[in-house]
Amino acid sequence: MKIVLLFDLSIPLKPEQYAEYLKTDDWASEAHILATLNRLGHDVIPLGIHDDLDLLLRELKREKPDLIFNLSEAFGGDRRFEPHLVSLIELLGIPYTGATSNALNISKDKGLAKKILSYHRIQIPHFLISRKASPMQSLADLKYPVFIKPLNLEASEGISQLSFAETKKDALERVRYLHERFETDVIIEEFIDGREIYVGILGNERLSALPPRELYFREVPEGEPKFASFKAKWDDDYRKKWGIRTATANLSEDMIERLEEICKKVYRVLGLCGYGRIDLRITPAGEIFCIEANPNPSIEKDGDFALSAIKSGMSYDEVIQKIINLAFAPEPGDTPRTGTRRKKK
Ligand SMILES: Nc1ncnc2c1ncn2[C@@H]1O[C@H](COP(=O)(O)OP(=O)(O)O)[C@@H](O)[C@H]1O
Ligand SMILES: [Mg+2]
Repeated sequence: MKIVLLFDLSIPLKPEQYAEYLKTDDWASEAHILATLNRLGHDVIPLGIHDDLDLLLRELKREKPDLIFNLSEAFGGDRRFEPHLVSLIELLGIPYTGATSNALNISKDKGLAKKILSYHRIQIPHFLISRKASPMQSLADLKYPVFIKPLNLEASEGISQLSFAETKKDALERVRYLHERFETDVIIEEFIDGREIYVGILGNERLSALPPRELYFREVPEGEPKFASFKAKWDDDYRKKWGIRTATANLSEDMIERLEEICKKVYRVLGLCGYGRIDLRITPAGEIFCIEANPNPSIEKDGDFALSAIKSGMSYDEVIQKIINLAFAPEPGDTPRTGTRRKKK
């Protein structure tokens, strides 16, 4: 297959500059996926886009790919535009991997996604939303401690130790800070104390739940709040110091079954397809809360999704090929009329 490997660039770069940059550490996961696609026998054209739509359209028209392997997460450095790039691909009628623009739009709004989950009786933390244009003045009805995060950012951007607040004063201060510093709306959730679990899902109609992974905080003292702050995700020294790492979760068969059922339901009701990862918390009493659904999660070879798929018996190459196959497989709710949506024009 002729595949365009689409990814976002934080700075504008010309296609002829990719080769050098793909060798750097920052691009290790794109480079590895590129190598994997080549090994699978595909003809791959890497295409990095910062904010040049003309370049994107020109390249797609010139190359006429059979498929876009979509690794893009932003446009012009802005993550809010991630779904729009997929909308454009949908208008062009080119098959692509992963989530639809609609699913991205829904899941990226943590409040909207939680309202839908709650309608479908999936347990979520109670929450309130503070709009930047009219910041919240009180936090009625929420139980403390609360957890404050940007409404539609990812990768724990804007999440630090101060995201955990035990008083109204501290919470509102953090809300104000996020409005100003990140220029974003804010979601304030009840803090769910418990184990942090990630479940990868592969599929469109028939879903496979991959073995759950857990985020461990081995050196964080008992009684301290534990959560994946920006530092806990990205700062290697900090992770080492506090023993923060993921590994296969050690859970009972019964718990794994309950998690699988919940995660498949979350995936379906939010309209995810291709591949996704559901983030959850399990309280000491064994209650399961959905924290977040991630369409198009990272599929780098050392990431949780890939490691979990490998644990289930797949090879990394099989994971990548499966994601490709799913781009052509029927989606949930497809009727013969809309089923042509992904056919090439
Ligand atoms: N309500 C909550 N209770 C406890 N921890 C939370 C809650 N919401 C988020 N967290 C912690 O913050 C991390 C990041 O939050 P999440 O909503 O997944 O945002 P992101 O999109 O940045 O990953 C989670 O992995 C979890 O550790
Ligand atoms: Mg998350």
